Amino acid sequence: MRRPIIAGNWKMNKTNREARELAKSIIQKMATSSPLPEVVLCPPFTALETVKGVINGQRIELGAQNAFWENEGAYTGEISPNMLLTVGCRYVILGHSERRKYFSENDQTVNRKIKAVVSVGLSPILCVGERLEEREKGRTEALVDQQLRGALKGLSREEIENLVVAYEPIWAIGTGKTATPEQAAEVHGFIRNLISQLYDEKTSEELRIIYGGSVKPENARDLFSQPQIDGGLVGGASLQADSFWQIINSYPMGD
Ligand code: 13P
Repeated sequence: MRRPIIAGNWKMNKTNREARELAKSIIQKMATSSPLPEVVLCPPFTALETVKGVINGQRIELGAQNAFWENEGAYTGEISPNMLLTVGCRYVILGHSERRKYFSENDQTVNRKIKAVVSVGLSPILCVGERLEEREKGRTEALVDQQLRGALKGLSREEIENLVVAYEPIWAIGTGKTATPEQAAEVHGFIRNLISQLYDEKTSEELRIIYGGSVKPENARDLFSQPQIDGGLVGGASLQADSFWQIINSYPMGD
């Protein structure tokens, strides 16, 4: 059984004070004994330690939004996997479409980053997804195939044991347009199949594949009711405790 996971990608939002308040409010909402999906908060680097202080001992994990591929050295402005580990992170988002678009990340750099991140024991949340033109040309699967093969090149089965893949169609990010549950499930099925070809059946069955792109309280339950969708990577709606909690609570835990 795959444990569902809901991660909040705060992107470049929240000062430390705001981050502390938001994390506290999320904890208050989560004060229930019922089973919940795994919850991950991914604040900006500057707020990692603050948020860790608040969520310590709670049912929430910490994630970063990026990492460099070396652990130390003369790389002005970069943050290393080891630094993230020592500040209490468990997850790192890699290859987000905004990083590919604004910071020239590509499958090769994402591949180097995944290797560096897993080598210190962090779990990558690898983002893949097509642009609208690519979907319209029927190139979604070809593109996702290329992104996954490129990002996972040279990684062993053991190295991808804790990998999470986030399918985030670019046309659905921050646009209010969501992929239909069926569209998302179709690509998730494709990803699982490809992992089974590249690795094996067991690895693909255990891989968690989550959906991102305008996940909101109004559409979360429909998306999460698809057996192929193991949770969500939430941007805008994770910036408020109320909407994020409603999304967490939408995951059908054993019902
Ligand atoms: P939105 O939920 O704001 O569309 O962002 C999705 C996303 O990019 C999460 O990584």
